[in-house]
Amino acid sequence: MREGETEETSGKRLTPMHLLPFSHSDEGGTWTLIMNEQSTTERTLACEGATLEYLDAGRTTFALKEVSVALPPGKFYGIMGPSGSGKSSLLYVLSGLKPPTHGSARFGSFVYNRNTETAVTDLRRQRFGFVFQQPFLLPYLTALENIVAAAPKVTTAAKNKAMGLLDHLGMSGLENKQPSQLSGGEKQRVSVIRAMMNDPDVIFADEPTAALDRGNGFRVIEALSGWRERGGTVVVVTHDGDMLQDADSILMLRDGALTDIENRSRDKR
Ligand SMILES: Nc1ncnc2c1ncn2[C@@H]1O[C@H](COP(=O)(O)OP(=O)(O)O)[C@@H](O)[C@H]1O
Ligand SMILES: [Mg+2]
Repeated sequence: MREGETEETSGKRLTPMHLLPFSHSDEGGTWTLIMNEQSTTERTLACEGATLEYLDAGRTTFALKEVSVALPPGKFYGIMGPSGSGKSSLLYVLSGLKPPTHGSARFGSFVYNRNTETAVTDLRRQRFGFVFQQPFLLPYLTALENIVAAAPKVTTAAKNKAMGLLDHLGMSGLENKQPSQLSGGEKQRVSVIRAMMNDPDVIFADEPTAALDRGNGFRVIEALSGWRERGGTVVVVTHDGDMLQDADSILMLRDGALTDIENRSRDKR
């Protein structure tokens, strides 16, 4: 268990039935690209031969084509590509939000499509955090209340934790403001803190900076990437490569296919 985890959030609550062994088929082509010894750990995100098709007015669109990748924990991953290249689709598949039409996806040994929807939802709630292009804050709650609402219970401990995170991200003094009193960048950083409240193993962010100016965009990315220092994995979808200067690996998508993975040495950063 990681620091700060309880029996409940560490996934121990999942019964052995949910932790079926993962068997890997070699059909997915690029599977080995960033696979290493770490990828067998419990917190590696992976998909194998993941294809996502949409049938739209008799025509099939391939949102993802045979994507195979393993993302060991504790790193900042970028998913890049032009609009419509499948970036959001890959995020949905890796986070268990969408089952692939073919192939599979998993978190550690938890294979999404071998489990019930309830089990996948539980896992997502306990182990993952999400940030979207819009912060989706409740307008009648303060920044602090919006963050604490993500905790299982509104407790003093939860409030203190939220205050600590606000302070850590240079936002103390803003806790009692309502969303309408915050800038776009501040609102988005509140949504990042909300995503951190349950100590997720992975934070998924889909175009978190697309609605922000560059300065605020960088500050949101900085807030997100800091989660890596706490041992968490950060997955950021963006079409803006500048936002990924600090990423450990960048997955490049084109027409639903994984075309390249750019790995960066952390020494160079
Ligand atoms: N619900 C859907 N129905 C039909 N086609 C979809 C749906 N969602 C996504 N697509 C198509 O799948 C492709 C990839 O979409 P998406 O993953 O959203 O790309 P990106 O996030 O890179 O812009 C696009 O061609 C898109 O039009
Ligand atoms: Mg998208």
